Amino acid sequence: MKLSLSIYLISLPFLFFLLIASVSSQEHASTPPRGWNSYDSYSWIISEEEFLQNAVVLSQALRDKGYEYAVVDYLWYRRKVPGAGPDSLGFDVIDEWGRVIPDPDRWPLSKDGKGFTEVANKVHSMGLKFGIHVMRGISTQAVNANTPILDTTTGRAYEESGRVWHAQDIALKEQTCSWMQNGFMSVNTDLGAGKAFLRSLYQQYASWGVDFIVYYFDAVKNDCVFGADLNINEITYISEILKELNRPILYSLSPGTKATPDLAKAVSGLSNMYRITGDDWDTWTDVAAHFDVARDFAAAKMIGSSGLMGKSWPDLDMLPLGYLTDPAANEGPHRKCRLTIQEQRTQVTLWSIAKSPLMFGGDLRNMDDTTFSLITNPTLLEINSYSSNNAEFPYISGSSPSGRKLGWSRRYPTSTEESEVETLSLTSCKDPKASRWLVNELDQDLEQICWKENTEGRHGEPFCLSLGNSSTKSDQGITYRSQYQGALHLLPSEDMRFCLDASPKYKITSSEFARGSFSPCTANANQMWKFHGNGTLISSYSGLCAKMKKVKANADAAGARSWIATGRSGEIFLAFFNLNSNAMTMSALLSDLAKALPGRTVSSCTGSEIWTGAKIDRPTQYAVSISVQSHDCALYVLNCR
Ligand SMILES: *[C@@H]1O[C@H](CO)[C@@H](O)[C@H](O)[C@H]1NC(C)=O
Ligand SMILES: *[C@@H]1O[C@H](CO)[C@@H](O)[C@H](O)[C@H]1NC(C)=O
Repeated sequence: MKLSLSIYLISLPFLFFLLIASVSSQEHASTPPRGWNSYDSYSWIISEEEFLQNAVVLSQALRDKGYEYAVVDYLWYRRKVPGAGPDSLGFDVIDEWGRVIPDPDRWPLSKDGKGFTEVANKVHSMGLKFGIHVMRGISTQAVNANTPILDTTTGRAYEESGRVWHAQDIALKEQTCSWMQNGFMSVNTDLGAGKAFLRSLYQQYASWGVDFIVYYFDAVKNDCVFGADLNINEITYISEILKELNRPILYSLSPGTKATPDLAKAVSGLSNMYRITGDDWDTWTDVAAHFDVARDFAAAKMIGSSGLMGKSWPDLDMLPLGYLTDPAANEGPHRKCRLTIQEQRTQVTLWSIAKSPLMFGGDLRNMDDTTFSLITNPTLLEINSYSSNNAEFPYISGSSPSGRKLGWSRRYPTSTEESEVETLSLTSCKDPKASRWLVNELDQDLEQICWKENTEGRHGEPFCLSLGNSSTKSDQGITYRSQYQGALHLLPSEDMRFCLDASPKYKITSSEFARGSFSPCTANANQMWKFHGNGTLISSYSGLCAKMKKVKANADAAGARSWIATGRSGEIFLAFFNLNSNAMTMSALLSDLAKALPGRTVSSCTGSEIWTGAKIDRPTQYAVSISVQSHDCALYVLNCR
């Protein structure tokens, strides 16, 4: 009585709010899922004891950071005996209906037909969710044994057209997995018996208490989903089964190869996450290979697009950090991650800002503090769950040093695959193409000299040099600033302590110095420039003039990458990634930030960089820039007006 009275006292808007809240909490994968997967540290050989030990650490150390799924990777049904391996035949444990079940020797709690029920119970009691990896289709062993198919509606063998159906009736023998030819083959979902088989599998997984299914299908051969022969019948039907189950199960697709957004569009709505690259291991090549594909999926607006009963997320694969094993090995964790700390930072930063699911792969029982702090960095986790407008930021400039000098180039996206860079170069002052500099007066204190393109507007903001703070001009500075009569220090941005340099000892024809260079600001004459009324910018020392020219992006420019996103409180996240093998000073102009964030004006920012703690205390009006080591990254949290 008291209870019902209090319900009446709740106001109508509040009830409405409760209703909305309960509906939205049922949305699957409303943020990118997080958890642990056994593959990177155990390959296929994990035991129940090892799995539960990892789950305990997951629950105690990572659950409150959102890492909630404990996932057993492939072949949990294969007996671990001599001769057994990823492509062996005849070692799988199957039930009378041809369904794989956990190997009771490795998973003692599964004995007496209990499947994963007890393991799932234990995982749930730790406040976690339980996941398994499955292969597409039906096991070859079941086909060879020609097991009958379970009709879950009757509890007996499936009958149709007056006969009992068997594994061989539904198996598509030509559709096997390329690296596991002996393992599984596809099922014909045009047949009632094929559908019944899939229902019997997934209803069993649900009855065990499974919350997350990684579904592996081979996209290399002709049965592939992302390949030329688009065949998504099985995935489509499984997603229908999952919708009908009264248990919320996240559906994760693993096509085992690189995907394109167009092809992924066919499956994103049927799943909650889908791998967009091949397996990622702890090599720099693997990390670097994710930048282009992550960019393409962000550009195609696939991040957080609608998925199975909720959202779906392009998946960059597990994080192979900490203590690991080797791909397809028959052994457990035995070695440390081979990525440098810089490369590891780059990996977790990209994964977070691209909103990839974060599935940690290292052995949790041997997790070191560095790894722990990387995967639980609060800024990264905030970005991963709650940022929006995530995209590659193309207007990045990378100044790569040659000796003490820096070249300068700015990368632009083009419609073609190749990107262009705008490069600062030196030329004769008689060159009519050198006379496109103009003074940009922002206010009394801040002035720039900007390059005006004929094609202005095509790439948006012009390239500008900032007036520097040379030690030689301290007493005449005002004159320089207002009249441009004297010589000037010119900086790529207000905050970069490098000055444009026109040292004549470099031949202008030399390919290295065809680019203008910057070096640490000094009072040397080779850093002094004069601006002329005819639009030229002349080096008083060498007599050469500066101009911008567009060239195809070289490797250096291609290796300067950046991502942008906005936060829940209006902050801007800006990541710089240096994929090159030497350090670079990387910068982004504020006017370009605004371009990447429609509807937003950005005129002045403060903020800090999370890995170094570097702060921008005095509001910057031009650019954000920082020196980034090879393979390293920088991540700014900016508060901008
Ligand atoms: C611009 O003026 C400078 C200084 O008078 C001169 O040396 C240069 O040739 C002129 N350049 C052009 C392209 O008009
Ligand atoms: C200009 O120089 C002064 C004194 O050397 C310094 O305090 C100030 O920060 C400099 N300004 C910039 C924009 O670097």
